Amino acid sequence: MPDKLLYIETFGCQMNVNDSERIVTMLSDLGYAPTNDPSVADMILLNTCSVRGGAEEKVYKRLVNLRIYKRDGKSQIIGVGGCVAQQEGEELLKKFPYLDLVFGTHNLHLLPDMVQGAERGERRSETAFIDNDQRLDLFPPIKGQSRLSRFVTIMQGCDNFCSYCIVPYVRGREISRRSADILDEVRQLADEGVKEVVLLGQNVNSYGLKSGCEPTFAALIRMVAEIAGIERIRFTTSHPKDMSDALIACFGDISKLCGQIHLPAQSGSDQVLKLMKRGYTRDAYLDRVRRLKSVRPDIAITGDIIVGFPGEREDDFELTLSLLEEVCYIDLFSFVYSARPGTRAAEREEELTRSQKIARLERLMELQKRITREICQTCVGSIQTIMVEGEGKRPAQLSGKADNGRIVNFAGDRSLIGTFVDVRIIQAYQNSFLGCLMQKS
Ligand code: SAH
Ligand code: SF4
Ligand code: F3S
Repeated sequence: MPDKLLYIETFGCQMNVNDSERIVTMLSDLGYAPTNDPSVADMILLNTCSVRGGAEEKVYKRLVNLRIYKRDGKSQIIGVGGCVAQQEGEELLKKFPYLDLVFGTHNLHLLPDMVQGAERGERRSETAFIDNDQRLDLFPPIKGQSRLSRFVTIMQGCDNFCSYCIVPYVRGREISRRSADILDEVRQLADEGVKEVVLLGQNVNSYGLKSGCEPTFAALIRMVAEIAGIERIRFTTSHPKDMSDALIACFGDISKLCGQIHLPAQSGSDQVLKLMKRGYTRDAYLDRVRRLKSVRPDIAITGDIIVGFPGEREDDFELTLSLLEEVCYIDLFSFVYSARPGTRAAEREEELTRSQKIARLERLMELQKRITREICQTCVGSIQTIMVEGEGKRPAQLSGKADNGRIVNFAGDRSLIGTFVDVRIIQAYQNSFLGCLMQKS
């Protein structure tokens, strides 16, 4: 029986969400059970992100707020992990005297030992990067999750060093997990009843390329598709420069591979793409989009765009707007450029004020809203196969995902949860569809 409670707050990307699940699994062996209420927790952990400046400030503010939960007489533990921890290390312990633990992105395996130390009143920071050879054995498993869809880490870190990005500095060099370990994990998940896996990495397209003794990403997908019980495969994130013909072909002939891809362009202007060190041109990006659509005409493409990169002129920005129209993204994640200390782009002078950057972001978002609305409208009337994942927000409603990744809510009986059903789309909203149940698929 767990006798202690762990409250964990997670910021940033899916890698952090996965790491938090690993932490919960590891600490359950020390008797910690998760809670959603920090005021009753025996340990509070923040798993942090530093990809944009604002995210970091948020963590600092949160730490200051959490201090009130450190109760008199009871030695409640507070810790910070993830990318801000990796960046700041020991400094965090100095800045926040009530903080007990700081653990970096390569140090999750040390956490049980650190926590036991903290229970005895020791304060400790561990942020050393681990050699790639050793890291291969440091993927603590995730247990106790009962979802139909699960993320499976296939690689960590990034070697791309896009000029604006902090990730390679805080996550370290790219490393591909052994395919045998990945396939074992997927088989295990299938045995537990998982039906969908999302293969996860900062740049999944370059999976295996560095090691030389692992399959390519396209070959890995084909192996995962062979596993009985797994009905749907997705992946994230894909770097356009490493998108091979073999991977595009997968969308043509693997029916388990869902018709959805997140393919961040960052900008539609060659001049800016070059400054960003992205390694592709607008034409090369659009060529990949065209080829994807030729093998999977209804593929739903999502993307990331940064506006206001230093050196982005009005005409560059307009090229980004026109890229949105050409690609027809179903959804877009757009960000105002934020200088990250230590990156190449941070050395460049910024000509735009914050309000000019925000004005560009608003124009971009306005355009994307229209594009999303138009694409989603074309789906109204279509029949989509839905993996029913749980109850919807309204009473007697179920919720699931279409093959293209959109959330679909529809009236139906709870007994359908965990199955695939056909649903006719009757209404499109900005972030979801309303459907009407046809039959069990
Ligand atoms: N590995 C993924 C992205 C990880 S970061 C990829 O290459 O696509 C997620 C997104 O944050 C990026 O795609 C980018 O759009 C945004 N981002 C990264 N650094 C940023 C910065 N300094 N300012 C603003 N947005 C940034
Ligand atoms: Fe950052 Fe570029 Fe690596 Fe993505 S590919 S994590 S944007 S450096
Ligand atoms: Fe943020 Fe680290 Fe992910 S910086 S986006 S949590 S890899």
